[in-house]
Amino acid sequence: MEVIISQDPCSASILAARLISRLIRIKPDAVLGLATGSTPLNLYRELIRMHRVEGLDFSRVRTFNLDEYIGLPPDHPTSYHSFMEENFFLGVNIPHGNIHLPDGLASDVPSHCEAYEQAIRDAGGIDLQILGIGSDGHIGFNEPGSSLASRTRIKTLTPGTREDNARFFGKPENVPHHVITMGIGTIMESRILALLAFGEGKAKAVGEAVEGAISASNPATVLQLHPNAKIYLDESAASSLERIDYYKWVFQNKPAWQADS
Ligand code: PGA
Repeated sequence: MEVIISQDPCSASILAARLISRLIRIKPDAVLGLATGSTPLNLYRELIRMHRVEGLDFSRVRTFNLDEYIGLPPDHPTSYHSFMEENFFLGVNIPHGNIHLPDGLASDVPSHCEAYEQAIRDAGGIDLQILGIGSDGHIGFNEPGSSLASRTRIKTLTPGTREDNARFFGKPENVPHHVITMGIGTIMESRILALLAFGEGKAKAVGEAVEGAISASNPATVLQLHPNAKIYLDESAASSLERIDYYKWVFQNKPAWQADS
């Protein structure tokens, strides 16, 4: 687990965008796992800038999103389909057919989830998965108590997550109760994990995820078992880490050959 602490969300997002751009330049048909929420917005802005200004080419990139609300059609303003379109896909050149999100209107949810898993396998697996973290430690929409081996499936949101996401829906009652999310087992099969977390509200969940005991009570703690997980934090999200000075020293003193990794 590599903990990378930046002064602010913007600098942290630029570092994460560089990781993704290096991957795409090495592997133009890379498979990216994408996340929604406020956290990756600066990251998507930077990738769009890299596309426009530096010619970063997404024409062969394939994407799989972590999750979608059940009951919302793709063109609903608060669906994750709409979120991704507005905040990322409109700004880059990923062909429509290369983009995958769970279908919130699937009539047979278990079969749809199995097909989503199969599509990820058919693509050769996810090279790099972007993750946010809930204030309760959820990754994707895998709420506390989720099996650490879970696969793509239906989940029921906790009242806390519905409250956290109410800002997108006007009022809490409008937030759907059910979602389809990649499972924790699905996420853990990605070759690289890049988790981003910003702000004081994430400090406790991040502290547990990085330095706490592995437990389904904070699903993000499972990242400790991943061989290539990078955690991009701002100072506030890092504020409850006990080994904060060590992580900073490690990052500032990487051997030259490792500096780009
Ligand atoms: P946020 O959500 O980026 O809107 O804070 C993160 C999450 O719930 O995973």
